[in-house]
Amino acid sequence: METIIEKIDPVHPDFAIMGQAGEILRRGGLVAFPTETVYGLGGDALNPEASEKIYKAKGRPSDNPLIVHIADREALEGIVKEIPAKALALAEAFWPGPLTMIFEKNGRVPLATTGGLDTVAVRMPGHAAARELIRRSTGYIAAPSANVSGRPSPTKAVHVIEDLNGRVEMILDGGPVGIGLESTIVDFTGQTPMILRPGYISGGMMERVIGPVCMDRGLMAEDSSVRPKAPGMKYRHYAPKAELTIVEGEENRVVETVNGWIREKEALGLRCGVIATDETAGLYRAETVMSMGSREDEESIARHLFDVLRRFDFLDVACIYSESFHTPRMGQAIMNRLLKAAGHRVIRV
Ligand code: TXA
Ligand code: MG
Repeated sequence: METIIEKIDPVHPDFAIMGQAGEILRRGGLVAFPTETVYGLGGDALNPEASEKIYKAKGRPSDNPLIVHIADREALEGIVKEIPAKALALAEAFWPGPLTMIFEKNGRVPLATTGGLDTVAVRMPGHAAARELIRRSTGYIAAPSANVSGRPSPTKAVHVIEDLNGRVEMILDGGPVGIGLESTIVDFTGQTPMILRPGYISGGMMERVIGPVCMDRGLMAEDSSVRPKAPGMKYRHYAPKAELTIVEGEENRVVETVNGWIREKEALGLRCGVIATDETAGLYRAETVMSMGSREDEESIARHLFDVLRRFDFLDVACIYSESFHTPRMGQAIMNRLLKAAGHRVIRV
């Protein structure tokens, strides 16, 4: 299939292009588009054939449900059985934005979209072009991240092109995304609201609005003894081709130890890379050192993570050492992705 690639202004997207994209979605085709978190691979959420196409284009296991994207609050009522008061309060506080909530679905949402579950994940993105696209569609766009299953989520249109060119009807290039990590997912189907995937909206931010929120225990487990509640969180994800190791400890000690390991590897003819920060990048003696930005600026770290992981795949390195990023607000989200990418390989020095 020939993929149409169109550049759009993320705030004032071209009328004609958005019309064409909406038309593709209504016909059951696929359109990749920018959101404020990561690029999404969109299809009509109410059309089971479109959802099947999404799974196929991504190579995604069909038990891994999709998030349904809406543009206004009324649309939520059209696809769920009930809206708990706390969910309504979070919607009030954080929608449109990087928050996904799980509800019991009604009969309009096909099981093909929810991976066979009777619950549905819903998000109202804040990105202007994403919202415009939803309005031009049936009002419901199922959209996982627009990467091939297992690869880092796309934060730039080139990432989408790398993974999906020739597999989708259209890719909308709205430039680099603002946040760079996928939305926070919170589940309302149990007793206490539960975070199934940490993101930009932290537990603390939600607790200020609705009181206690808990974290899925399956997220913390380094082994698979406790299954995460979001089916997608159990899969190996984001891993670069090179072996990635996270190194934790006091800054000087991390730099010294990593430099020692690099010397050892290089003596064996193996090239190494380092994931560092602006403050430390100059201190490492590796062939390639990539900075995530300043350690003081956690939003920059979040925004660069997936791009850095993808860029390493174009380089001939056998191993990558990464600093850890337990930053105040988004640290949980950043470390959740980085730990997955590293297959939980962490060395404390
Ligand atoms: O920021 C985002 O959320 C992006 C953009 C495009 O909106 N989308 C995204 O979708 O990250 P995806 O498919 O890559 O991740 C969705 C996650 C998966 O881990 C999936 O298992 C989980 O949400 N999920 C979806 N529906 C669920 C449900 N009904 N119950 C539990 N987990 C669910
Ligand atoms: Mg994904």
